[in-house]
Amino acid sequence: SNGLKAGHCLTLADFSPQEIESILTLAKRLKKSQEEGTPERLLEGKTLAMIFDKPSTRTRVSFEAGMVQLGGAALVLHRNELQLGRGESLADTARILSGYVDGVLIRTGAHAIVEELAAHASIPVINGLTDGHHPSQALSDLFTLQEKKGKLKGLKLAYVGDGNNMLHSLLQGAAATGMHIVASVPEGYEPAADVVAEARQLAQETGAKVELTHSPKEAVTEADAVYTDVWASMGQEEEKAKREKDFTAFQVDQALMALAKPDAIFMHCLPAYRGLEVSAEVLDGPQSIVFEQAANRLHAQKALMVTLMG
Ligand code: CP
Ligand code: NVA
Repeated sequence: SNGLKAGHCLTLADFSPQEIESILTLAKRLKKSQEEGTPERLLEGKTLAMIFDKPSTRTRVSFEAGMVQLGGAALVLHRNELQLGRGESLADTARILSGYVDGVLIRTGAHAIVEELAAHASIPVINGLTDGHHPSQALSDLFTLQEKKGKLKGLKLAYVGDGNNMLHSLLQGAAATGMHIVASVPEGYEPAADVVAEARQLAQETGAKVELTHSPKEAVTEADAVYTDVWASMGQEEEKAKREKDFTAFQVDQALMALAKPDAIFMHCLPAYRGLEVSAEVLDGPQSIVFEQAANRLHAQKALMVTLMG
């Protein structure tokens, strides 16, 4: 055991506020040493297996490149190339992988799948996105926010869009770091009540503020950062038309951004759909930091892997 609260990263609630702070501090150091040409090979000889049930560009490539930079290796496995795809159980797969590799990442649908894998693995399990949570993204986003704004405590983060996996992880991350998060979602697309309640409880300890509204304008007013995500997540393709109607008032455009602080940044986990959740003008405009945000996943996730697998 690595002495961490959970030993896995299934959601950001697996880490205490102090653990998150140490990961962010390590990420900063690893980014600096990588950029200075003195990479720290802290996972020499270690292997991460990555199981993908859904597509991925950023998660897949950043974790794999991160492992290489740390002196280790990563294996990308698609469900249908594994015996898992032919009915071997997740529990047996977890036991088998535990005998070969030092960590396993999985991107899948139901959050219960990643919990099941963790229950039977004797190695750290990393959630590379489920329908419920996207912790590696939110952790990287905390790193980016800290880098851009110099602090997290007291920052106002406005979320505009779906009460989905991304929002759940941002709520947990904001609560752990003392941020003021205001999430605006259309009626009927609220985040899970238990995630909100737990974030509010943690907020009492950290000084964070967790608010929900149906008004994007209210959320964005005086915000330091404005965050959005796709309206139809992976697996919701058939709801796309209905969602585009229900979310019409939730596009982040220049008029909405104008309500935020003049130095507010625009964030998106990507992939983005210009003209839907965000106008092209905002996504490609001067306030958008989305490509740096994506690049930072490498550094934050290296710190995550060193923390869990080091
Ligand atoms: N943001 C994110 O997780 O991107 P991918 O789906 O490309 O991994
Ligand atoms: N909410 C999105 C995030 C993609 C990185 C999805 O689950 O598809």
